[in-house]
Amino acid sequence: MAPTIRTIGISNGGGDCPGLNAVIRGAVRASILGHGWRVVGINDGFDGLIWTDRTVPLTVESIAGILPRGGTILGTTNRGNPFRYEIEENGKKVIHDYSLICLENMRKLELDAMIAIGGDGTLTIARDLGKLGIPIVGVPKTIDNDLSATEVTFGFDTALHVATDAIDRLHTTAESHGRVMVIEVMGRDAGWIALHSGIAGGADVILLPEIPFTIETVCEYLRKRAATGKKFSMVVVAEGVKLPPLDPFGKPFPAPRPGQVGFLIGDAIHTLLKKDVRVTVLGHIQRGGSPSPFDRILATRFGVEAVELIARGEFGRMVCLRAGEIESVSLDEAVGETRLVDPQGSLVRTARAIGMNFGDYA
Ligand code: F6P
Repeated sequence: MAPTIRTIGISNGGGDCPGLNAVIRGAVRASILGHGWRVVGINDGFDGLIWTDRTVPLTVESIAGILPRGGTILGTTNRGNPFRYEIEENGKKVIHDYSLICLENMRKLELDAMIAIGGDGTLTIARDLGKLGIPIVGVPKTIDNDLSATEVTFGFDTALHVATDAIDRLHTTAESHGRVMVIEVMGRDAGWIALHSGIAGGADVILLPEIPFTIETVCEYLRKRAATGKKFSMVVVAEGVKLPPLDPFGKPFPAPRPGQVGFLIGDAIHTLLKKDVRVTVLGHIQRGGSPSPFDRILATRFGVEAVELIARGEFGRMVCLRAGEIESVSLDEAVGETRLVDPQGSLVRTARAIGMNFGDYA
């Protein structure tokens, strides 16, 4: 039986992502225009469920103009797990379980259901809040595109456009100077942005977390390329790439901090190849700015379907995209499994077929 809903809450957690505002807008408009519900924005991840002054009414008027805006009007955090909330007390870190406070505050705020938008971490919290009795549905989000239960997440397409544009720009200057350009793109566990932007931008070498590589093999390939008269080369690196154990001096590579791996690889290539190497780390530029039309549409579809899940009383589920259609899966199925690039998959085979190199053999 469909539940009686009067008010719902919307929160987003984890890193921001182009298209979050489009989900919020889609969900708010579908709730108000389609069902006559009230909508409350929960600010800063789940913090707004712990401290209720961090909530805001969302109306058709208040969300006007947010569709093309990057970031999120609700603010976000990748800390703040209500089940294990870290607080500093008298100079010491203390962990609190605020989950029952969330349940209590749902009642105080008169929320009948919640939409949680996020990646694996936020969706795991959403699943656990659901098990505690909060009627909740999830919307997947990450520029990394690595959630197993959905074919695509919004934000990926925008990040891909930014990365491809950067590779195109770096291509022309690499060519002018006859340099090796190393471009580090995001992708903590999976190499989707590197693989797609590398193919779209015509990279020579693409280094992914999923394909082990050696610097010697990369350099051997670049030498062979130079021998055919190509004076410059483009090397796209996913930030989550696993470095080989030793650098060209036989010393262990240091464990890289975010944004450092491209420099370590660039230095190693320079050491072995004795060529001019320049490194660009795209970093959060890929996450900022206006979402692409594809991401705006996908995010809107996700937001609307999340509302329909609530209207049908299908709690504990997450919206997803399968074969171009919006469907849903249980949050249990949705979390915990990362969608990685298949080293034998068709995209990698396509790249190899046109002579691109993954650093595994020259
Ligand atoms: O998961 C999305 C992502 O952008 C990763 O690609 C990146 O490693 C991480 O978030 C960066 O997180 P933060 O914004 O906390 O530095």
